[in-house]
Amino acid sequence: MEAAVTDTDPARDQAAEQVRKAAADATLRPTIAGFFDEATNTITYVVSDPATGEAAIIDSVLDFEAASGRTSNGSADRIIEYVKTNDLTVTWLIETHAHADHISAAPYLQERLGGKLAIGKDIIRVQEVFGKLFNAGTDFERDGSQFDHLFEDGESFAIGKLGGIALHVPGHTPADMAFIVGDAAFVGDTIFMPDFGTARADFPGGDAGELFRSIRRLLSLPDETRLFLCHDYKAPGRDDYAWETTVKQQREENVHVKDGVTEDQFVEMRTSRDRTLAMPTLIMPSVQVNIRGGRLPEPEDNGVSYIKIPVNAV
Ligand SMILES: [Fe+2]
Repeated sequence: MEAAVTDTDPARDQAAEQVRKAAADATLRPTIAGFFDEATNTITYVVSDPATGEAAIIDSVLDFEAASGRTSNGSADRIIEYVKTNDLTVTWLIETHAHADHISAAPYLQERLGGKLAIGKDIIRVQEVFGKLFNAGTDFERDGSQFDHLFEDGESFAIGKLGGIALHVPGHTPADMAFIVGDAAFVGDTIFMPDFGTARADFPGGDAGELFRSIRRLLSLPDETRLFLCHDYKAPGRDDYAWETTVKQQREENVHVKDGVTEDQFVEMRTSRDRTLAMPTLIMPSVQVNIRGGRLPEPEDNGVSYIKIPVNAV
């Protein structure tokens, strides 16, 4: 008998099943607090299990002033305060990807709150590309060992008694992951609010076609899946920041990828739009630090850590 050709996706199906169960049963849903950082338009999430008080911190921000090279901890301290006030135990510090617009505060938070630092396993590809660009020495390991855990596509994890599933959603960068906890999906830089559209796909290792397929994969989750975004920039006609939508709303309204838009149309739109975008102000410091798990490059013999800028190389 001939096998039927099917578009099977067991990891997505498992995530969809989890969403359906959580949508029908409030005890399977996480408590979610979003913290907006106006300097980088980033949302950090604390996702906790109300039953056990266990929590994950997703995409934290270390404040950084490029002109003076000074870091500060105001954004991270807000997270610590929330965790302590609500008596949470942090078990995960998760990065959806190696961010190009802000430095991660994960090491600072880990020191104070504990938890395992995790990212997608394709961070290794990102480390190779940027290790070369920054001419990092042999002491910079390109094996993901700066992280405590590397997530694979379809991998299950837990926050207390809540189930989670990691999905690999490359395109913005090769290592992007989405994390589905209960009925909530933390989608990183894939899709933004419906009136803003999608993430850019022109960083080294990015790919617009791949981004389209990753987004359509996320939008094949149940209509009621709650989507939590990593960034918001407002949009023409909207004066408030927003970071939560649903699969249904995105499929009906997203200006770049609503139902009916083909991959070719998307790639054409995305690549021509990306050509007009400037590099993010903090891309050089951010990437250099984030591929090291949020740790600054090793201090030189005077005890000071330096961030490099490759000239005419990007
Ligand atoms: Fe990003």
